[in-house]
Amino acid sequence: MTLEHDDVEIMVVNCGGEILAMEDRCSHDDGDLSEGELDVAACTMECPRHGALFDLRTGRPITLPAFQPVDTFPVVLDGDTIKLEVD
Ligand code: FES
Repeated sequence: MTLEHDDVEIMVVNCGGEILAMEDRCSHDDGDLSEGELDVAACTMECPRHGALFDLRTGRPITLPAFQPVDTFPVVLDGDTIKLEVD
């Protein structure tokens, strides 16, 4: 699932029951990370453009060509509602 807040695209991902939110923009060249491949076991997302792997928990790239982190957002579960802390 993706959403937008203040012109920032955010993706919300279920990593084996752990709900995580990360910026949906690769720090290498603006690839849409939500269109990449999710590895639930490792909790990583592979950028569909050039293949950088990002840790969904930290936003840090694990592999090149990306080397700068993207933003992550704390998630609060309120019953069936997912809330993000975006500021
Ligand atoms: S745009 Fe993501 S690795 Fe290049």
